Amino acid sequence: MKTFLPQFTSRASVLTLLLLQFNQAAEGHYGFPFVIVNGVVSERWEYIRPTTEFGPNFDYSGPPSMCGFNGTRPLFPIKTIKIEAGSMIGFGSSGQTGFVTEEWKSTEPWYPTFFMYHDGPATAYLSKAPGDLDEYEGGGDWFKIAAVGASDGMNWDYRQANQVNQMNFTIPKSTPPGKYLMRVEHLNIMTFYKSTQMYVNCAHVEISGPGGGNPGPMTKFPGAFDAKDAGIWLPNLLDSPDVPLDQLKNWQGAGPKVWKPEV
Ligand SMILES: *[C@@H]1O[C@H](CO)[C@@H](O)[C@H](O)[C@H]1NC(C)=O
Ligand SMILES: *[C@@H]1O[C@H](CO)[C@@H](O)[C@H](O)[C@H]1NC(C)=O
Repeated sequence: MKTFLPQFTSRASVLTLLLLQFNQAAEGHYGFPFVIVNGVVSERWEYIRPTTEFGPNFDYSGPPSMCGFNGTRPLFPIKTIKIEAGSMIGFGSSGQTGFVTEEWKSTEPWYPTFFMYHDGPATAYLSKAPGDLDEYEGGGDWFKIAAVGASDGMNWDYRQANQVNQMNFTIPKSTPPGKYLMRVEHLNIMTFYKSTQMYVNCAHVEISGPGGGNPGPMTKFPGAFDAKDAGIWLPNLLDSPDVPLDQLKNWQGAGPKVWKPEV
């Protein structure tokens, strides 16, 4: 059962969304169970830690804020995708396909015509595993490699009107080679406290390349975020819906600043 929200093209229409939100509460929304590299789409959950559900997470500082619901350890062993630093990795979106808490059992392939139907910013983080990724609970250090906000200061780049079916991120060229947990997030930003919806999944990636970078600043998951963070709760989003806001244009998200590689 899929429910699609009407088109939202401006911040003003967020109001409409707030009215609709109650009806949405029990529905699945979406997640990112696919990895796309060089045009090759993975199987569902091939490289992504399976999550039990695709409903929005509102516990921004709790365990699901790291890799989604039940994503602290893989629910079953998954593969690790090899990627060269400097290249791009895509995360294909999918709506809920089965029973609410049994999303991890789904084997549905990617439907490229499923579009992310919320408007909001996207971020990506990496955390180097000390050993085997299947055993890594993500308790180490995390750094942010990307934050995609609203280039025009008004409309989020990732928005329904753009018909986006995947989020793309480039692995910084000088990322030290190794095995990483890669966390990708899309937020449906709200003006009401604790109403912002978080959609998050993690991939197992093995990064190759020259290295040489010194990633930072570092943070921890859970713990990087707080419900009051300006990157999550934007109470003044509707104050002047037709005027570009620096807050959106320069959106960096909650947590640390994006790593700026020296080399
Ligand atoms: C997911 O986590 C919840 C809460 O900790 C737990 O009750 C449930 O059994 C877990 N589901 C699976 C499939 O492990
Ligand atoms: C992601 O990359 C693919 C492949 O290059 C491209 O077709 C798609 O438009 C990109 N999507 C976004 C949102 O950048």
